[in-house]
Amino acid sequence: MRDKNKLPLGTVLALALISGSGGARATGIDKQDFNQIERGHYLTTVGDCAACHTLPGSGHAFAGGRPVETPFGTLIAPNITPDPQTGIGAWTDQEFVNALTRGTGRHGMRLYPAMPYTYYTKLTRDDALAIRAYLNTIPAVHNPVKSDQLPFPFSMRWTMALWDELFFTPGTFHPDPHKSAQWNRGAYLAEGPGHCGMCHTPKNFLGADDTNKALQGYALQGWFAPNITDDPRRGLGGWSVDDIIAYLKTGHNKTSAATGLMSETLNLSTSKMSDADLKDIAIYLKGEASGSSANKTASADPPDQTVMKAGAQVYADECSGCHTSSGKGVPGLFPSLNGSPAVQQTDPTSVLHVVLRGALSVGTAPQPTAPAMPQFGWILNDDQVAAVVTYIRNAWGNAAPTVSASQVKKTRQMLVGRSD
Ligand code: HEC
Ligand code: HEC
Ligand code: HEC
Repeated sequence: MRDKNKLPLGTVLALALISGSGGARATGIDKQDFNQIERGHYLTTVGDCAACHTLPGSGHAFAGGRPVETPFGTLIAPNITPDPQTGIGAWTDQEFVNALTRGTGRHGMRLYPAMPYTYYTKLTRDDALAIRAYLNTIPAVHNPVKSDQLPFPFSMRWTMALWDELFFTPGTFHPDPHKSAQWNRGAYLAEGPGHCGMCHTPKNFLGADDTNKALQGYALQGWFAPNITDDPRRGLGGWSVDDIIAYLKTGHNKTSAATGLMSETLNLSTSKMSDADLKDIAIYLKGEASGSSANKTASADPPDQTVMKAGAQVYADECSGCHTSSGKGVPGLFPSLNGSPAVQQTDPTSVLHVVLRGALSVGTAPQPTAPAMPQFGWILNDDQVAAVVTYIRNAWGNAAPTVSASQVKKTRQMLVGRSD
């Protein structure tokens, strides 16, 4: 998929390098430019610009047109190819850096935070300019896009100045001198270009990050992006650095398999990051405070025993064939539900989504075949789904709030009309 976005210039440049200064002179690009463009290409992958700015199936990398859902309505991501009329070809470098790291459009208008400038603000100026240098090399596509389609009152762009005033802290990443170089690099990538918090950090009523709960989990677009702090039950406390690397590289590790929104982030972005960077991100996530201690010790009320018994029966009939009766699954094939943080999130949206709709786990280049989880939405009624999900959230030492039939019904309604 990324191949589409590969530098068309890449080969030319590589040849120029191999053939030494003569070739470089011939293309008018020196080695320093080449390094900057390559670094920009990599950062564009880390920043996952394609997730929003490339319309899947259009064949036009970064030409915009993809709807981006926000809690307030849908925006259409603009064209960021070098086309001077409909893209950003006529923008100065400074205008580009301002858009990326300050959230201001070309003529000073405010961008909506659906564009992750609240994270990209942490980019160094050099890195922001490298992204620009790379974007200058991709094919220009003429594609006019009208971004804002938000309903009133969010259609008023100027209100975003107020939003920024309240919730946006501009400024590049400051390394923490008490932490290792690896932790700092991981923090830079995750909090800056990787914008992990855009999905994983809970939001306030105006869609801004609740920074006291960084990376503690958030429901969006029909999925729940789980707690990825080091919290022992709901977070990654039980995962080693290698488990995290394997997940971010391939979408799988010994206990988990990625689905939904994270599959796209994996395909377009994390699976293409260098092993060293993935390791630094893992070190950062493991070293991240697990949030409030209340969260750590929070134990759910024990569920009703009749519900647990009904759930155990459904589990034995429908699920144990793959996930096994101990819930431990089969490494590399069927994820473990026993001890799984994804299963024990306070918000059951993702678990219900997977059980009702099934899931085709992500296939990534390093691990191309993906096993599938069948759909149970049409086999099980709301009470049965509530029971089996309550059961897997509380069997084998797991603990999480019970799920009611009305929550299942609501999730079914929410999923109507969603294709993912
Ligand atoms: C989560 C979705 C998302 C991601 C990821 C994203 N963008 Fe955007 N971007 C948007 C949206 C939506 C807008 C339009 C915002 C508006 O109209 O207020 C936008 C606007 C922009 C603009 C302003 C363009 C214009 O015509 O006004 C630039 C430049 C830009 N993005 C560059 C990037 C780059 C470079 C990356 C990767 C480092 C990136 N974006 C990643 C959603 C995204
Ligand atoms: C577009 C939204 C989005 C972005 C951006 C995103 N994630 Fe995720 N992530 C998710 C969702 C949704 C899941 C749950 C997937 C599932 O249930 O299979 C998830 C799952 C995960 C998991 C597995 C957790 C578990 O308990 O199973 C890890 C680890 C993770 N993400 C790390 C990251 C990191 C690191 C970044 C930034 C580099 C990131 N994510 C960026 C949406 C996102
Ligand atoms: C045919 C084999 C099979 C059966 C039967 C099955 N599953 Fe799965 N299940 C999978 C596979 C494969 C995955 C991983 C793929 C994915 O997440 O995309 C999975 C994933 C899951 C997940 C997500 C785990 C995570 O880490 O995000 C949950 C929850 C789950 N199954 C629950 C159930 C329940 C409850 C049942 C019975 C009602 C069930 N499964 C029956 C194969 C199966």
